[in-house]
Amino acid sequence: MTAVEQSGSLPQVLARLDQIEDGGFFETEARLAGDDESLILHRDGAAVRAWLNVCPHAGRRLDWAPGKFLRDKKGHLMCAVHGATFELTAGECIAGPCKGSALKQVDVEVRDGLVVLST
Ligand code: FES
Repeated sequence: MTAVEQSGSLPQVLARLDQIEDGGFFETEARLAGDDESLILHRDGAAVRAWLNVCPHAGRRLDWAPGKFLRDKKGHLMCAVHGATFELTAGECIAGPCKGSALKQVDVEVRDGLVVLST
C-alpha cells in the first residue's frame, strides 16, 4: 500500500511530465478548495512549478487561447491582456502594470512521471 492509498485520497493528476516541453508551459485545470481553477504549469527539467492562471493586474487569464502563452524576448511569461511580464521562479511580475506583485503559486510535485497536486 502506498502512502497515497494510506491517506485515503488519491492525488489530483494534472498532467504527465512528458506532455510538457522542457522550459515550456502547459494549461490544465484543478479542483482547489471546491472550485475548478485553471493552472499554468511550467517545466524546468525534472521539476514543475504551477501558478493560478490569473493575472494579478486585472484578474484575467494570461493565455491568449487555452494553453497558448506569450513570452518576452528573455523567455519570461507575458500576460496576453496588457503585457505584464513574470519571471519563472517565484512568478514575480518584473515589468508591466502589476510590477512587484506575483502570480499565486500552487504546490505541485512530480511522482512517477505524473504532475500532481501536493497534499
Ligand atoms: S490582466 Fe494581465 S496585464 Fe492586465
